[in-house]
Amino acid sequence: MIEIRNVKKTFRAGNGEFEALKGVSLKIEPGEIFGIIGLSGAGKSTLLRALNRLEEPDSGEVILGGTDVTTLGARQLRHLRRNVGMIFQQFNLLSSRTVFKNVAFPLEVGGWPKKDIAPRVMEMLELVGLSDKAQSFPSQLSGGQKQRVGIARALANKPSVLLSDEATSALDPKTTQSILSLLEDINGKMGITIVLVTHEMGVIRQICHRVAVLEAGRVVECGKVRDVFMKPVSRTARELLSHLPRRGYDVSQLPRERGKPVVLFSFNGDTAEQPIISRAIKKTGAEINILSGEIDNLPSSRVGSLTVQFAGTEREITEALSYIRSQNVVTEVIWNG
Ligand SMILES: Nc1ncnc2c1ncn2[C@@H]1O[C@H](COP(=O)(O)OP(=O)(O)OP(=O)(O)O)[C@@H](O)[C@H]1O
Ligand SMILES: [Mg+2]
Repeated sequence: MIEIRNVKKTFRAGNGEFEALKGVSLKIEPGEIFGIIGLSGAGKSTLLRALNRLEEPDSGEVILGGTDVTTLGARQLRHLRRNVGMIFQQFNLLSSRTVFKNVAFPLEVGGWPKKDIAPRVMEMLELVGLSDKAQSFPSQLSGGQKQRVGIARALANKPSVLLSDEATSALDPKTTQSILSLLEDINGKMGITIVLVTHEMGVIRQICHRVAVLEAGRVVECGKVRDVFMKPVSRTARELLSHLPRRGYDVSQLPRERGKPVVLFSFNGDTAEQPIISRAIKKTGAEINILSGEIDNLPSSRVGSLTVQFAGTEREITEALSYIRSQNVVTEVIWNG
């Protein structure tokens, strides 16, 4: 478990001061893929880097594997960094070394016996699907391949935690998908805890179990991904979600008929399978036509959305809507004329 307790960090530059972390507390479970999301400048990288002391917090505690890392001396710190791998947006590979030598680097520094290094490097390259690129140089690789090398290097020392700072932000959508799938695969196979910083809700949706939303150096929201997607409470989460491609019905093509409101229903994993719509029809006499719908498979649950059009008397429609709301379905009236 990683426990961050009241971590603060102020940067002093020239005669100015900037409080980047204003007392952050979080608990991250072992084996979890935990997302940290926020707008640019929110303090995401500063927080992530506090976990392996690439950034020194001014105060607060970071408990990792039972020890407060903020108190470690130089030797213990080297040990900590072997246990915490990290990948970056710009890959940070050594350009004068081959792929093989890049992955071998942390093992050489970590004092691995020479005979063990080559087999471990090849095992890592196989894991990330780059066995055939061992003798290539970084400049000969695509962005996605470079990030795979970054992942192989980060995992070589068998860390229990992997930190990822915008690791897919420099990649196109398809390559992003493949890197996220690889991280998910590694999490499943090796049980490694992944703490992942991003400004994209799509990344959170694809692989994270829980997410914390950071706003100006503070955690303003934290919970299961499905809950934050269903009912975002912070301004940042709402704004970031609004940039996701709109699911459900194409708003420009709504059937705009007087007295027939169009409503988007969002179900969580507990309600999605229940026949709430047919019960609402039977109970109230309202007509409910499904315009479109989909079920999302989040890592932790199934979340569904349905776009429907109501018909009937005003009273029937009001009753049907309030019945559906009472069944824990989040409703959003998209059009009502
Ligand atoms: N070394 C530094 N010196 C001075 N200010 C810094 C330093 N590092 C970060 N900051 C400031 O701290 C704030 C938080 O920075 P941080 O890099 O953690 O944000 P971020 O959420 O990762 O943003 P982005 O999404 O753009 O990467 C920013 O306002 C930044 O300008
Ligand atoms: Mg950053």
